[in-house]
Amino acid sequence: MLRRERWVHICEASALSEREFLTLDVLHGGDIVSCLVFRYQGMVYAYRNQCVHMVRRLDGEQKRIFDDAGELLRCSMHGIVYQPQTGESLSTMCRGEKLTPVKITEHEGGIYITDKRVRGIV
Ligand code: FES
Repeated sequence: MLRRERWVHICEASALSEREFLTLDVLHGGDIVSCLVFRYQGMVYAYRNQCVHMVRRLDGEQKRIFDDAGELLRCSMHGIVYQPQTGESLSTMCRGEKLTPVKITEHEGGIYITDKRVRGIV
């Protein structure tokens, strides 16, 4: 059974095209954190917007999160690249470390955060 009453509506599914992303501040546990939401190969994904290398946003230096080929997530600070589907660093630096995932779903034309730790958008 779906527990939709706890879902946090982000946007209409049609508002997030392939390789597009948005950032939002959410109440995550007791903290306000930046969250990345993007579409990749048709699926939507969300991670905390914090690099594994340093406490920096992936889009902190440039308002983009993908590499030039559009195939990997890339931190704009020092260039660590991540597998979009898993958030795992593929770079020598911090290899194997992972971005913190945030549970998300696309349902009946909307995109929702379903992560119990997220209480809402700030
Ligand atoms: S802070 Fe992201 S690669 Fe260094």
